[in-house]
Amino acid sequence: MYTARSSRVLVLDFGAQYAQLIARRIREHHVYSEIVHHGISIEAIRAIAPKAIVLSGGPKSVNVPGAPRIDPKIFELGIPILGICYGAQLIADELGGEVSRGESGEYGKVQLRILNAGEIANGVTEDSVVWMSHFDAVTRLPRGFTLVASTPDAPCAAFEDPQRGIYAVQFHPEVEHTDQGWKFFDNFLRKIVRAEPSWTNFSIIEEAIERIKAEVGESDVICALSGGVDSSVAAALVHRAIGDQLHCVFVDTGLMRFGEAETVERTFTEQFGIDLRSIDASKRFFDGLAGVTDPEAKRKIIGENFIRIFEASASEFKDAKYLVQGTLYPDVIESGTGTAARIKSHHNVGGLPEDMDFALVEPLRELFKDEVRAIGEELGLPDEIVWRQPFPGPGLAVRIVGEVSREKVEIVRAADKIVAEEVSRANLDKRALWQSFAVLADIRSVGVMGDERSYAYPIILRAVESSDAMTADWARLPYELLERISSRVVAEVPGVNRVVYDITSKPPATIEWE
Ligand code: XMP
Repeated sequence: MYTARSSRVLVLDFGAQYAQLIARRIREHHVYSEIVHHGISIEAIRAIAPKAIVLSGGPKSVNVPGAPRIDPKIFELGIPILGICYGAQLIADELGGEVSRGESGEYGKVQLRILNAGEIANGVTEDSVVWMSHFDAVTRLPRGFTLVASTPDAPCAAFEDPQRGIYAVQFHPEVEHTDQGWKFFDNFLRKIVRAEPSWTNFSIIEEAIERIKAEVGESDVICALSGGVDSSVAAALVHRAIGDQLHCVFVDTGLMRFGEAETVERTFTEQFGIDLRSIDASKRFFDGLAGVTDPEAKRKIIGENFIRIFEASASEFKDAKYLVQGTLYPDVIESGTGTAARIKSHHNVGGLPEDMDFALVEPLRELFKDEVRAIGEELGLPDEIVWRQPFPGPGLAVRIVGEVSREKVEIVRAADKIVAEEVSRANLDKRALWQSFAVLADIRSVGVMGDERSYAYPIILRAVESSDAMTADWARLPYELLERISSRVVAEVPGVNRVVYDITSKPPATIEWE
């Protein structure tokens, strides 16, 4: 599945909240890292031959029956190991130390006391603060280990056995609140493991190109572009690898954001010279949606129409054997765990039918979103695409409560454009603000404009902070920004006489209104 990499770190996941964050921190040190289930066999580890292994945190206590464990032979592989939180307790427990339940756990910021910096805490200063989240604590070290640091409720907060290459920290060096967390990773990856810093944007692109070429050979490849960052970066990358063998299809549903269809066409046709078939299918979508008010029914109609249109277009490429998908690494690790209740049936360009006879090319399968953005920038994609906020497959249709019409799409699109412009002008932190957009409700209210009574739609402003869209909090946007958006929307968008702000988190609400 993967090509051999010179330096790879395996993160064994014990059900940690922060496993992904650990993997990202390692990658930020330019070392490729991959999350695997803690039950991975010794043979599989040997076959992968990682440069180092990190044992993640986890919610269980090592002292309860059924707690996740590892094959103790892992300690004899001669591969450096770093245990974090539960991983540290597991090291102590497996190698003959003791883990006990203390009086009280430690949660949040705690002062770290360095007793003997050794290798793992080399250069960490005395005033360092670490982030703790534990109830159990290591109370006796296994033979051969040196105590590195302690905290008020964790007598063995960091310990190591450099002879065997085993290091352990009770706190979380991967979270931002551990102010010198970076140093622990640096010590481990650079000084202890001596991993090559070879995971760079350049190497990712080079490697992806080689892999795509080897995979598809002379065959034609098709790609459904959505205008979003994932499918755009995937297409640009595949194009860099195989040029004219790539054919893109862009289905304009008529439900896109302002200027989106034009940006896609301009970027891919003019800038990259990619063979792009752009299909204006708005009439078909509006006809299909006429009279439909149920959110799930709307989603289904859009999803199905999209698939049929894409299928018809794809069938024209007779020699195409491959389909590009913008699947990301978090989707890969999370797939298979999907037992959650269906809240909304998501539609995206990845939701194509299984009976389509294509093999998949997924050049972003190993990447996190921030890495995909960096690659996009490196490949020369414009900021409008690379930094575009997430947008649902069914588009503006799920931002219009009730029946969708061309008129309503125009209203919500114009309002959304103003929201985007003002948010961008306000220079807020791009990473903190996950999404900000306009929603059109299916109600009207009375207003007064220029001495005249108005009876028009309200625009609902939705702005949320989130890191993964699973949970979200409403953004505390500055009042001045809210004021500018409100006055501009009412003044510039015909049919709107009121702006309201949605101050609900997710849960209980969802980010989109439908
Ligand atoms: P909700 O509304 O469920 O949205 O809180 C979570 C995130 O997913 C996006 N979203 C979609 N993305 N196809 C997509 O590709 C969809 O059908 C879809 N519906 C919602 C939404 O914008 C938010 O970022």
